[in-house]
Amino acid sequence: MISWSIRRKRARGPFCMIGKCSSCFVKVDGKPYVRACREPLREGIRVERQRGLPEIPVIGDLATLKEENLSTDVLIIGGGPAGLSAAVKSAEKGLKVILVEDSFKLGGQLVKQTHKFFGSKELFGGLRGFQIAEKLAREVERNPNISVLTGTYAYGVFRDQIVGLASSDRTWRVKAKCYILSTGAMENFLPVPGNDLPGVMGAGGAQTLMNEYGVKPGEKALVVGAGNVGLIISYQLLQAGVDVKAVVEALPEIGGWFVHAAKLVRYGVPVLTRHTVKEIIGKDQVEGAVIVEIDEKFQPIPGSEKKVDCDLVLLAVGLTPDTRLLSQFGVQMRWVPELGGMVPLRTRY
Ligand code: FES
Repeated sequence: MISWSIRRKRARGPFCMIGKCSSCFVKVDGKPYVRACREPLREGIRVERQRGLPEIPVIGDLATLKEENLSTDVLIIGGGPAGLSAAVKSAEKGLKVILVEDSFKLGGQLVKQTHKFFGSKELFGGLRGFQIAEKLAREVERNPNISVLTGTYAYGVFRDQIVGLASSDRTWRVKAKCYILSTGAMENFLPVPGNDLPGVMGAGGAQTLMNEYGVKPGEKALVVGAGNVGLIISYQLLQAGVDVKAVVEALPEIGGWFVHAAKLVRYGVPVLTRHTVKEIIGKDQVEGAVIVEIDEKFQPIPGSEKKVDCDLVLLAVGLTPDTRLLSQFGVQMRWVPELGGMVPLRTRY
């Protein structure tokens, strides 16, 4: 429980753990609106809960920011696997690359993937996700054509396609000949009562806590969504000693691979298709959840409600592409539900 709900006057807990929501705002060394999940711990750091609207920081603080103008062949925004691979390929062609990543380390969502990947050797088959991230990051860091800025946000696109970047103590205006956006995606919320109680997290958020930081996210979990993400996180919860009470899936069939579902079934975890979560219960944190069976029109079947005793509800209900900067660049966008939301319209493949 680290942030504070202005409307409900109670604590909020982290949701995504990757800097893509607003559930973990705190004050750090007097500065408001700092995302706790993106801030590295350091000696003497002062962290306070941000209750209500904070005062705007005094201008003197902002005026001390160092500014710099940069130009480059390629600016890549996002240091996950796509951004890292694009940086290596661009640099191999002799292009000068600036790679920007808002986390303090490279690798994106691979850094918390502890399972082995399937596929051919060329596609890193047999390696664990975090090993793939380390391998790609090493290639990037030793390439003299690539400059890396971690802990740095691309906050907007301005006239003449100049991109504004900011870290905690400096800003940059970057003009590039080519821009590559590899900004990933955000985990979806579910519109049910209680969905912002501490203890409701994205499945990826819980993976970050467990696999990156060694923190157990709860004791008794309900997982919503039986795609690969929901199934894999459920198994990892079991490995971390969390009691997984059930996995619920609104569709009539499990969406993930059989091999992942089979592991859960062997551990006796019920995977309930045509079920969803109706309500998440709790005063200051999750104290339980109500699940319900749904019909073929996805409507709750009255009388089928069941209470689940849990202190953790993980949502693995899809992702929304983070395309906000693309819109600022003026790229033509389309709403494609199958791809998770607004995506750029491609004219060539
Ligand atoms: S931004 Fe920190 S939990 Fe989402």
